[in-house]
Amino acid sequence: MASITIRNLDEDVKQALRERAAKNGHSMEEEARLLLSAKPKRSIIPKPAQAINADNTSNKVEKALPKIADAFEDYPAAGKRIVLIITGGIAAYKCLDLIRRLRERGVSVRPVMTKSAHEFITPLSVGALAADKVFTDLFDREDEQDVGHIRLARECDAIVVAPATADIMAKMANGIANDLASTVLLASDRPILIAPAMNPVMWENPATKRNVETLADDGINFIGPKTGEMAESGEAGTGRMAEPLEIVDAIGELLDDRPKPLLGKRAIITAGPTHEPIDPVRYIANRSSGKQGYAIAHALADLGAEVILVSGPVNIDPPNNVGIIKVQTAREMQKAVEMALPADIAIMVAAVADWRTVASADKKMKKKNGKGPSELELTENPDILKGIGHHKKRPSLVIGFAAETNDLIKHASAKLDKKGANWIVANDVSATSGIKGGVMGSDNNRIKLLSKTPNAKDGKKVSVEDWPLMSKKAVAKELALAVADYFNKETITV
Ligand code: C5P
Repeated sequence: MASITIRNLDEDVKQALRERAAKNGHSMEEEARLLLSAKPKRSIIPKPAQAINADNTSNKVEKALPKIADAFEDYPAAGKRIVLIITGGIAAYKCLDLIRRLRERGVSVRPVMTKSAHEFITPLSVGALAADKVFTDLFDREDEQDVGHIRLARECDAIVVAPATADIMAKMANGIANDLASTVLLASDRPILIAPAMNPVMWENPATKRNVETLADDGINFIGPKTGEMAESGEAGTGRMAEPLEIVDAIGELLDDRPKPLLGKRAIITAGPTHEPIDPVRYIANRSSGKQGYAIAHALADLGAEVILVSGPVNIDPPNNVGIIKVQTAREMQKAVEMALPADIAIMVAAVADWRTVASADKKMKKKNGKGPSELELTENPDILKGIGHHKKRPSLVIGFAAETNDLIKHASAKLDKKGANWIVANDVSATSGIKGGVMGSDNNRIKLLSKTPNAKDGKKVSVEDWPLMSKKAVAKELALAVADYFNKETITV
């Protein structure tokens, strides 16, 4: 076992590691881990298929892990194996999509169907999507692919029951094992996640309520049921199965075994532009896409931080593991940030509009018959970062961004003091930044990380780390690791 602390490395070694990591599309932590261990990265390179051959006989049920689509390589359960038990409910049709979503995220799915599930979907479609045999019978001695209920129950990382009917929940709560699905569940020592789906009256029945309580006490994890319209016409209430992507997220959370150095830390992130109204249909805005701020929020949450993302209007979905407060204007953003205090970390990524109109018109402004454009009287917006940097509840780590078109270091250094920030992430947003189409809206970024140098011997008050061109996601991961390091002096152990 070898271990290093990245922050303690010499500056040139660190820079070389950073460049190598950027080239290979890894975070520095991942690159260091690969260099130290020469083991493949779990989430990118699937493990070779594990042989399921407890009895050492020839193995006909070996199952390779699916390839991970690039967009999902951060999925925490990538490379894991689940048994998916499908029971007989109308929501079973959603399982086909669930299997697809899991496999594109690199999860191997071994399906078990109850007899009644066959009434709703066919083993043919389930098996085709899972790229596996569908297991149904408890005693299948004739079948050369029979792996037995004990092996099904154990040779996986988790068992997911979706949809979970009132019937399977009753069996689980009472230890009944009278078919393959219930026997696998009783024989398993793996984490179990269930996605209940039933008629609202069945869900409210005292017997189901008792079973839910027993199952929760037994450590069974739940996702849903949700409230809304049921598949049966005219029925509504609580009992809808969670959507496939919600189940995917719950599985990711259940199987997330990555280190969580920021557990117990709370972070406030601002992201996106603000919209400052001129009249009911027009506003002052900028080109910020929110991608960098959202990626930072996600990366911090992945390291265990509790994250509040205060977002201006953007067209991207928020990460599932962060709390989101949506705002329009700078003043709303400031209020939301203030309300989210206290926090340990504040990262102000938003491209807040510097000015707003003194008063926005309550009716659409009209052209003035050739008399030239209306004049807009503007006033300055509050500086949210500066407010936080000098706040009586100041988070211990305050990070600002500086998007500049010229004299990047000079302007960014001045912001460290003026805004009361520990670090400034500086980026060149000029047309000559080297990023096609400019940083704003792009998926890539090239940043310099400025921090104050305490007791600098060479008189340099600010230290500057020059990061190579990376994806915004990679910048976010590196920044999150630097934040973790600030608090924990985190050591990477291989
Ligand atoms: O002063 P300038 O806009 O260049 O500063 C950029 C930094 O300050 C960013 O971190 C941005 O989120 C933050 N900021 C703010 N409120 C403003 C203007 C900028 O929080 N009104």
